[in-house]
Amino acid sequence: MGDRTEKHAILVDRSAVPVDTLRARIGAAVVVQGWLQNKRASKDLYFLEVRDGSGLVQCVVSRHEVDDASWSAAVRITQESALTVRGTVVANARQIGGVEIQVSSAEIFSLADEYPISPKAHGVEFLMDRRHLWLRSRRPWATLRVRNRVIMSIHEFYQERGFVQMDAPILTSSAVEGTSTLFGIDYFSTPAYLTQSGQLHGEAMAMAFGKIYTFGPTFRAEKSKTRRHLTEFWMMEPEMAFYDLDMNMDLAEDFIVRLVSDVLRDCQEELKVLGRDTAPLSRVQKPFPRLTYEEAVDLLKSDATRDLLHQRAKGLREKLTALSNERMQIRQQYGQAKQWKRRRMDARRIEINRQQSAAEEELRNIPGWERSAREFEWGSDFGGSDETLLTWHFDRPIIIHRYPAPVKAFYMKRDPEDDRLALGMDVLAPEGYGEIIGGGERATDLAFLQRQVDDHNLPREAFEWYFDLRRYGSVPHAGFGLGLERTVAWICCLEHIREAAPFPRTLGRLSP
Ligand code: 4AD
Ligand code: MG
Repeated sequence: MGDRTEKHAILVDRSAVPVDTLRARIGAAVVVQGWLQNKRASKDLYFLEVRDGSGLVQCVVSRHEVDDASWSAAVRITQESALTVRGTVVANARQIGGVEIQVSSAEIFSLADEYPISPKAHGVEFLMDRRHLWLRSRRPWATLRVRNRVIMSIHEFYQERGFVQMDAPILTSSAVEGTSTLFGIDYFSTPAYLTQSGQLHGEAMAMAFGKIYTFGPTFRAEKSKTRRHLTEFWMMEPEMAFYDLDMNMDLAEDFIVRLVSDVLRDCQEELKVLGRDTAPLSRVQKPFPRLTYEEAVDLLKSDATRDLLHQRAKGLREKLTALSNERMQIRQQYGQAKQWKRRRMDARRIEINRQQSAAEEELRNIPGWERSAREFEWGSDFGGSDETLLTWHFDRPIIIHRYPAPVKAFYMKRDPEDDRLALGMDVLAPEGYGEIIGGGERATDLAFLQRQVDDHNLPREAFEWYFDLRRYGSVPHAGFGLGLERTVAWICCLEHIREAAPFPRTLGRLSP
């Protein structure tokens, strides 16, 4: 084994252009450097699908148009080999990006071993074990570019509004969001934790800078295997002095509308690759319905929820019939189909199986969801399925506010109208996704906070610095946290949050 670099290979060609600029270069001679995503052969022709990160382009190598070395490169090249291609850009409306390259020369930079990920579909665990390579495929490309767009929009949105970005520490001495999901570490023989949230430090920074936001990795030792939980995720948390709960909800609403509209404007190609129906995203407009916890509980227990569930079950059964019909059709046509068509059918069959198991699983869950909704008791926190059901009643995100204090964190301000309630709010993403934002107005009273810390069995010493914020110029203030991966999972319509992170960390995964 050893170095696979071909002798005399061109290393870096500085005149190479990004694939996503080819559309503007029709008729020009160009150089493209990248990797071979896929290859098809036909008599005297090779079709090389070349990926450079910015996009994909089909490169047509014709036996009669290139020298022997280039032809031999086209013959020998394997999937994921690195190569340099020269040629002319021509329009071809049927190709991705509307162009292709008529190759004048092709050169292998390094020849790849047999690649473990073939163009046909694999199971997600297989792919996650090879995430370092899977990142090169279309779905991760699309998803993580949407993630990038969301990150940019986060900064733009807050910077335009005069917020100052500040980093909260990752190594901390205390819990923020309860003690059950803390990752403990040994900090020079002192117990310490990976932060669950930057909020408490965010509050200190807001008292110094007015309006701030933190954006960084946060950690939860979640022992749950749901599609909504990571153990390491990125949270963006604005914190504002002289802000109340209503202002907080207004900000969250403007923020989500902005994120979605930026993605719709700039990520059309990505959403297409993901097969994302954009109609529900276009409906993400102000105002979002706002329900008190009390109203949400009534809705959850209502006949309307039961009806929605029954409709859903009916829809799922229809979907299963359609999928099984499609599978039968493929089986009938497979024998006569050409090679390239068979490949497409193989991929479709795997997709049909995936959709079938997802629909069957959901169908199995529905009776449990119905029971949990009907028997929901005032004072409990909403579970994942309860949130999903609530979102089905609306065509856009919803905000639920004024939760029973015991289900919320120690720092929440109480509702002056009803001391049983905390001035907290959650934003639930539509289409079943559920909570993407949690936040609220913070308690300002020192004695109250000290009692809260005791009642939550938290060590007072660790919060002395936090109490100082109430000793020296305590003011009404509020903020929230947005989970980046949950937001991206919703916008991209992913089945599982893990695909929204480049290298996800979950209960069962710490590698690659
Ligand atoms: O609702 P949470 O726990 O709120 C806080 O941490 C507050 N201190 C935030 C604040 O007010 N500054 O978490 C906020 C968001 C959730 O709405 C969710 O989107 C995300 O963080 N989140 C998770 N995302 C992925 N995996 C997990 N295990 C998550 N836990 C929370
Ligand atoms: Mg929450």
